Amino acid sequence: MQDDNAVSVATFDKYAVNYAEKYFALRDYDAYYALVAATLPAGPCKFLDLACGPGNAAAYIREHRPQTEILCVDASLQMLAEVKRRLDPVELLAADCRDLGAIQVRFDAAAFCFGLSYFDDADAAKVLSQLHQVLLPGSSMLLATVAGDPGLSGAQVNAAGDKVFNFYRQQAEIEQMLANAGFQVTQAATLHSPATASVRSNDVLVLCERQ
Ligand SMILES: C[S@@+](CC[C@H](N)C(=O)[O-])C[C@H]1O[C@@H](n2cnc3c(N)ncnc32)[C@H](O)[C@@H]1O
Repeated sequence: MQDDNAVSVATFDKYAVNYAEKYFALRDYDAYYALVAATLPAGPCKFLDLACGPGNAAAYIREHRPQTEILCVDASLQMLAEVKRRLDPVELLAADCRDLGAIQVRFDAAAFCFGLSYFDDADAAKVLSQLHQVLLPGSSMLLATVAGDPGLSGAQVNAAGDKVFNFYRQQAEIEQMLANAGFQVTQAATLHSPATASVRSNDVLVLCERQ
């Protein structure tokens, strides 16, 4: 059976340079990166940027909490190359969010931004459970995700025939998935997607605590 998520990752890999040029410099989410940064303990600590893309969340943490050790994880090697270009030296790991078993360290905080909507319900539950495993009890996670009518889920195909599979969910369902995985929501907000987004939607941003 086709792994829809792997198809989406191949498309992100192909267009990593364009994605980085379009989204890396965006400041729309800084206030939310700041919320998770504020939960980091003083002094040296560890931060995970999962499904990091070009490293948007990592860049904020690097700038505002320079003593933090950051691990950037993505399944796209080209996205990781974009991180290296911008944030070197930085620790990179090519891995699938559905299996973070290679990660031995435990993190003081994490960002999982704009990754969730590329997973169906079963895989999304796996990713959140993996995140729960690599985060320390009481630590915080920023989840940002595209939200929308589940009925609109499916493949988005560009002119070259490249596909990304989107799985839309409403905020209440996203919060329920987080609760099921052992995260307590502490703050939540809905924003309009950036003007440059390829599909206009609402973004849900949730700060939650790992129980
Ligand atoms: C929309 S981008 C988000 C990038 C960045 N976090 C941001 O906020 O802009 C989605 C990223 O998720 C990554 N991704 C999707 N499925 C993945 C998987 N199974 N494992 C690891 N990364 C994945 C893609 O390669 C892509 O870099």
